Order: sequence, then C-alpha cells, then structure tokens
Amino acid sequence: MREFWEQRYAEESLAYGAEANAFLAGQRPRLRPGMQTLAVGDGQGRNGVWLARQGLQVLSVDYSQTGLERARQLASSHGVTLDTLCVDLFTWQWPRDCYDLIVVIFVHFPPDQRQRLHQLMLQALKPGGLLILEGFTPEQLQYKSGGPPVRELLYDRAMLAEDFRDAEIELLEETLTELDEGPYHQGTAAVVRLLARRR
Ligand SMILES: C[S@@+](CC[C@H](N)C(=O)[O-])C[C@H]1O[C@@H](n2cnc3c(N)ncnc32)[C@H](O)[C@@H]1O
Repeated sequence: MREFWEQRYAEESLAYGAEANAFLAGQRPRLRPGMQTLAVGDGQGRNGVWLARQGLQVLSVDYSQTGLERARQLASSHGVTLDTLCVDLFTWQWPRDCYDLIVVIFVHFPPDQRQRLHQLMLQALKPGGLLILEGFTPEQLQYKSGGPPVRELLYDRAMLAEDFRDAEIELLEETLTELDEGPYHQGTAAVVRLLARRR
C-alpha cells in the first residue's frame, strides 16, 4: 500500500487539493492558536497546513516520504511551519497524553488494526483533547467518488461508536456530502463523521 501512495503523491497535481477538508474546516470555532496537533495520515498536507495557518502547532505523520515532501512545500508556500514525521502508523510508538487535537481525514485501516489504532489515537490526546475524524461508509461503494473500493476498509457509525466508547462523543453521524477535493475526491460521497473528546 505504501508504494500506492508514493505513486499517487508523485503525480503533478495534489491528489486531494490544497485546501482543507470541508468537515475539518467547519470545526474552526473549536480551534485555538497554539494547540498541539497531530495530523494522522496527512498525505500531501492539505489539512495539516490549513491547521498551521490557523496558528496551531502541527505534526503531520504519514508513511509516504513523497507526500510529506509535498506537505512541506505547501507549508512553505503559505509561510507556515509544519513538522513532519515519516512513520508506519502500525508500528509507531504512539505518544501518550500529548495532543490537544488529533485530525484523521479519510485514513482507513484494515479490520485487524482499526480498533487498536483508534484507541492509540485516543490515548495520544491529553484529557479533554479533541479528535476529528471523517471516513467513508460502505454506501460509498456505489458513488465511486473516492476512498478504498473494498468494503472491509470502510467504516460505519457502529464501528466508531465501539472504537471510541471510552470517549465523550460530541458528534457521530453518517451523511451524504459533495466532495470537491482535488482529482481523487469529486462528487457525492457517503461519509461518517466523528468528534470525540478524551475524558
Ligand atoms: C486517502 S489518504 C488521505 C490523506 C489526507 N488525510 C487527506 O485527507 O488529504 C490516506 C493517507 O493515509 C496514509 N496511510 C495509510 N496507512 C498508513 C500507515 N500504516 N502508516 C502511515 N500512513 C498511512 C497514506 O499514506 C495516505 O497519505
């Protein structure tokens, strides 16, 4: 899979565009300058860079070197600082009690890893810290507007309720949305959205 992302991110245009994901951008009132932030699977950095532009202290983690290089270029074009770390999230020694905010946009893990990684994300937050997640649901298979084309990699509301059962859930919904995010996310999409706060 890593090679898949390396190839996609070496293409000329930014795969998911240069602007923040719309669900994330809609959470702007919850953000404060200086928040310690982890952008998980940040790819070419559109979300991490947008967060840095809001004054947050952002670390983007991803296993694509090519993606993170593009993320650093995007940060520099906006004159903001973005820290990057190239790691495999499956084997990373996840920090604990560290972040005010964790952002996970369209990062889909296989069923044998998903719950463990989601719990590590929750533990990486400080108490009271916020996690913002958007993913595709199985209904997305009929839209073909982006996301993994295999059912077992898609998420639904019940899965996330279980994965984040120890958190305070501020929002957990499945909805249809219109994606306009670069060449690979275009059109009607079936998504699940989560705002979860560590207790
Ligand atoms: C669909 S892209 C989303 C990128 C970004 N979050 C965005 O919304 O533009 C999924 C990202 O997850 C990263 N990823 C998937 N599995 C990973 C793993 N095991 N370790 C690190 N990164 C991973 C990929 O490299 C890719 O950048």
